[in-house]
Amino acid sequence: DQHRPLHGKHVLITAGPTREPIDPVRYIANRSSGRQGFAIAAAAAEAGAQVTLVAGPVHLPTPAGVMRVDVETALEMEAAVHGALPADIAIMVAAVADWRADSRAEQKIKKQKGDALAPLELIENPDILAGLAQHEKRPGLLIGFAAETEKIEEHARAKLVKKACDWIVANDVSGDVMGGAENSVHIVTADGTEIWERLPKPEVARRLLRKIIEEI
Ligand code: C5P
Repeated sequence: DQHRPLHGKHVLITAGPTREPIDPVRYIANRSSGRQGFAIAAAAAEAGAQVTLVAGPVHLPTPAGVMRVDVETALEMEAAVHGALPADIAIMVAAVADWRADSRAEQKIKKQKGDALAPLELIENPDILAGLAQHEKRPGLLIGFAAETEKIEEHARAKLVKKACDWIVANDVSGDVMGGAENSVHIVTADGTEIWERLPKPEVARRLLRKIIEEI
């Protein structure tokens, strides 16, 4: 009906950072707060969708009507995303760590006086968005995010092609967007680019949902 335009649709969303352990007490992560992804999950639930939100470690309450799966690492996030399929729409908002430590030390790595620092060997994490684009259960509408600090549209369009998704929501993170309350986005699709004014993250979420509803 009119008030629940996404009724019967499953929307899969990733949000937040991932946390890649080095040893029992240390990890690699990033400044993502999860706020934009959580706002999108809330807006999708308000539009009547069945929402699965795969969340990295964040300090945010679960939006009403959203089924949340908490994960820590990129590999766990990938498994949770695959486990949640099929989905009609997937919106990959998480800031997935590009790398993880090649091996996780069983015990806390000790500082040793006079010794050279042991190098930290990193390996690449899987690209969850690109993997979903090639998956046999690829969602009908697949949306990625891209945090950029320069040449926003050019970089976003290159990602759209490389990752074979349908839209890229590019945000300019050169200022205080990461972790902040507002977002400044470009929506890059095969049809062209929309530039939205700087808006509170919940408003970006509502507008994005409106655009999704028009599309499907
Ligand atoms: O290449 P970049 O990390 O900028 O791409 C960002 C987009 O790709 C986001 O939608 C992010 O959620 C997704 N991504 C992913 N898995 C990764 C890296 C990025 O799903 N390992």
